[in-house]
Amino acid sequence: MDNKFYITTPIYYPSDKLHIGHTYCTVATDVLARYHRLRGEDVMFLTGTDEHGQKIEDKAREAGVTPKEFVDRIVEGPQGVLDLWKLMNISNDRFIRTTDGYHMSSVQKIFKKMYENGDIYKGTYKGKYCKPCESFWTESQLVDGKCPDCGREVQDAEEEAYFFRLSKYADRVRDLLVSTDFLQPRSRVNEMVKNFIDPGLEDLCVSRTSFTWGIPVDFDPGHVVYVWVDALSNYITALGYLNDEKDGYDRYWPADVHVVGKEIVRFHSIIWPAMLMSLDLPLPKHVFGHGWLLLDGSKMAKSKGNVVDPYILARQFGVDALRFFLMRTFPFGSDGNFANELLIQTINTDLANDLGNLVSRTTAMVNKFFGGNLPAGCGVSDEDKALLEKLHSGDGPVVSVSGGAPDVELLAMASGLRSLYEDAMAQFAPHKALEEIFKVIQRANKYIDENAPWALAKDMAFNGPRLAHVLYNLLETARICAVLLTPFMPESMVKLFAQIGAPESAQTWDSTVWGVLSDTAAVTKGENLFPRVDMDKALEELEAAKEAALKAAQGTTIEVEPQLEEKVDFDTFCKSDFRVVKVKACDAVKKSAKLLRFTLDDGTGTDRQILSGIHKWYEPEDLIGKTLVAIVNLPPRKMMGLESNGMLISAIHTENGEECLHLIMVDDAIPAGAKLC
Ligand code: MSP
Repeated sequence: MDNKFYITTPIYYPSDKLHIGHTYCTVATDVLARYHRLRGEDVMFLTGTDEHGQKIEDKAREAGVTPKEFVDRIVEGPQGVLDLWKLMNISNDRFIRTTDGYHMSSVQKIFKKMYENGDIYKGTYKGKYCKPCESFWTESQLVDGKCPDCGREVQDAEEEAYFFRLSKYADRVRDLLVSTDFLQPRSRVNEMVKNFIDPGLEDLCVSRTSFTWGIPVDFDPGHVVYVWVDALSNYITALGYLNDEKDGYDRYWPADVHVVGKEIVRFHSIIWPAMLMSLDLPLPKHVFGHGWLLLDGSKMAKSKGNVVDPYILARQFGVDALRFFLMRTFPFGSDGNFANELLIQTINTDLANDLGNLVSRTTAMVNKFFGGNLPAGCGVSDEDKALLEKLHSGDGPVVSVSGGAPDVELLAMASGLRSLYEDAMAQFAPHKALEEIFKVIQRANKYIDENAPWALAKDMAFNGPRLAHVLYNLLETARICAVLLTPFMPESMVKLFAQIGAPESAQTWDSTVWGVLSDTAAVTKGENLFPRVDMDKALEELEAAKEAALKAAQGTTIEVEPQLEEKVDFDTFCKSDFRVVKVKACDAVKKSAKLLRFTLDDGTGTDRQILSGIHKWYEPEDLIGKTLVAIVNLPPRKMMGLESNGMLISAIHTENGEECLHLIMVDDAIPAGAKLC
């Protein structure tokens, strides 16, 4: 077996903060990468950022910074791309930025090589350009005169440019798509052939002169390399192709799979293979085009304002639950409609009810009935051995056994799980792999009810051995499932292994056969791995978090009242008597929403009462003992039937349109009655 596995995500545009749609793509790739590592393969998992192009140049100009400063902030800054992948526990081995020097010089060499072999030539570009997508389209490809990808307006464009002889490779690329399993899922092949190849593959414009934020064509200053040639090359430059800074090209190329979203399948399944053919390099084994996460039926996009923030979801539900939800709910390859309700339901049904319950019930019973250690000899029985032998004696794997005795069914399902899981993962169908795991988990929960361990425990002398065997079977099922769940929820599975007493040797791919767990493993009842989520409360909290994030993103606008033009003479000013006062008591005035009544020590020996309309900002009990400032020679005023003798001094401003008030509090060391001057 070839023991290496090279897998990539697309490199992301750092033009805005990434959203849950981007996270979906990266988590799926991470799950596949972790799965191959679990199998003991030498995995190279690459991700990165695609930092050139007009869109970034424009955005940087708007923000008043250089393009490099702009992308640095989105890639490296708080809640930036690197930070998000760290949060989501993404296990990439390398991270490439297309502004990295080694990549840029490799791309120049790639461009030159294609030029020198006659596949790149100079001409005049006339056509339609979609700026947001940075894509050129022919008239026939437009949909209602608009960009077929994003539906936005396209512009006429004409300029001197270099072209790549894509047309030359049309037949070879068509053959690759139609006659091999290069492009997955298969349903995408027809789309590519019908929409792009059969109408006639035109040569591709691969340089621009209308902007400068790109990799310069070194033999023709003024031209920068078209962003897709720059971006696609990352998959080989990151392995050291035509540079000395990186290595691994000989080991890892060709890639086993490029995981990409469906809108960029065209670039990966037509342009990229043609470029590689031109360079005379081997082709990647597969491109997998997954579907989109939709919100209210349309693709999430920052520009449409319908994005979901992965930080909010991860904070609320935990990273593993979020990773699991993304993989469990939406068949990889199809579009899926995101909804918070769906996320919460999945957590409650699969994680809290099914998996969480299996583990907590089993560990609780091992603790209660056996003090945390099952007795030696309760594990795999002779009958189990005979059964397992029978199950595996056939040529194919055991698919399912139904209608048999509970032990037979459970053992058959758990021991046959790995091969079903393996098939699903080989088809890039993590959702199917999870489906198989949860069938086994559900079967195990049913097995608890069928065997009623609590009833067996009533007569330990007679039923003890059977009870121990039932619990062993449950622990073993949970363990096998947990090993196979590790790529999806790495951190939670570590905790689960600790609870069921599975050492590292029982967490490996090879251990996913029946009977590896020691029958005397030390079981502990740890924290609840997946607490149930209260739907209404969580939805409310998510809404509040979304609003707070929106406000923070809009930036805080603070306004203060303009200063007065009119002058006041010094003598008049001096007539105002400001004193330091200490709050002896404070309570809310009955029937008033605003007023607080203060009893103040003003240094005279007689308490002073002041009423102040500040309940919106302060609770009375928080103010007792504070040292404040008051003007004490205002004429008395009645409010809600109570007399106010003076006014407490505060500062006010508006923040995001809302009035904010702060009582002026001074050093407690200043004695009551001290005059301000
Ligand atoms: N820079 C290019 C890729 C170059 S690869 C040589 C690009 N970047 S992107 O940031 O716009 O998208 C990166 C990936 O995120 C793509 O695979 C894209 O499909 C995926 N997604 C972005 N929004 C998505 C959803 N709403 N749902 C699922 N995936 C989505 O394209």
